[in-house]
Amino acid sequence: MVKKPRPLVELVATGRYLPERILTNQDLERMVDTSDEWIRERTGIRERRIAGPDEGAAFMGAEAARRAMAKAGVEPGEVDILVVSTATPDRWLPSTACDIQALIGASNAMAFDISAACPGWLFGLSVAEGYIAAGRGEIALVVATEKMSAIIDWEDRATCVLFGDGAGAGVLRRTSGDRGILSSHHKSDGTLANLLYRPAGGALVPMTHEVLDRKDHFVKMAGREVFKNAVRSMAEGADLALSRAGLTGADIDLLVPHQANLRIIDATAKYAGIPQEKVYVNVDRYGNMSSASIPVALDEALERKVVGPGSLVLAVAFGAGFTWSGMTLRL
Ligand code: UT7
Repeated sequence: MVKKPRPLVELVATGRYLPERILTNQDLERMVDTSDEWIRERTGIRERRIAGPDEGAAFMGAEAARRAMAKAGVEPGEVDILVVSTATPDRWLPSTACDIQALIGASNAMAFDISAACPGWLFGLSVAEGYIAAGRGEIALVVATEKMSAIIDWEDRATCVLFGDGAGAGVLRRTSGDRGILSSHHKSDGTLANLLYRPAGGALVPMTHEVLDRKDHFVKMAGREVFKNAVRSMAEGADLALSRAGLTGADIDLLVPHQANLRIIDATAKYAGIPQEKVYVNVDRYGNMSSASIPVALDEALERKVVGPGSLVLAVAFGAGFTWSGMTLRL
């Protein structure tokens, strides 16, 4: 019998920001050799949001953060640690976290980025949880912000139909109650990095005219291989997060999976023994927003009262690296 863990930090509130511009499958039919039918059948996606020129990762993240802080009743100056997950930083230096810190005025925070792809928000929650649990701070802000449209090859039909832009955020606070993060499992396997990556444009192969001509600065993905690994790893994430909390799928009020592909979501739910009506899906409206997918979905689920205080949530994600996570929370 697993001893039920007591949470150390609670998720006080969430927030999200989505750009207004919608790009539909029909729009994509006019851009590349694809069809609405193919995209819907293979992925479940109908449309996605595309950020404008002034909507960078920091701008979107700051908006999501402001909304989360307002709901939490937390002032920017109270934030001790600001963790930002992004695969699309506005610039190489400084971190997007420092830009968000300046935008929101979180002047007392330690601010830094983490790079963990799609599970990045869950990785970030655990980093902040550890910091607070160690007694180094009381309040954390964990933001995930992704402008995927900036790193996609809009002529590559295998990838450009999949992704969208957006940001989500959560405020964490130390707790002595029974609500908060109950368990987590995070894992990485760097040996499979080249199945989903950007070959160039970093420090090893800096941006050159040749890199631009070869489009090596854009996302490359071996879709089928990533799919198989995603199904396997999200099952592992669900399994270990549940067992570490002494829970089964039957205890869960809502599964909030990473929103990459409806078929992966269905497989994960089935494996975890969670019925469809207890699975939050918004991949049809937003596509894959990498690490922003889970906080955006959770924020929507809370706003729509699909879940509320006391609900048990299982979040699972998989992404480039590879990286994967499972986490259980009592809201
Ligand atoms: O967030 C990080 C994690 N990422 C993921 O989890 C993504 C995982 N992978 C997937 O979701 C799926 O593999 C995809 C949706 C990317 C692709 O679906 P698939 O069923 O694995 O298709 P496929 O890559 O095996 O391609 C099947 C066919 C190919 O044609 P042939 O070779 O069978 O003639 C592709 O060229 O579909 C073709 N195809 C397309 N056709 C129309 C690929 N992309 C498109 C497209 N429109 N956009």
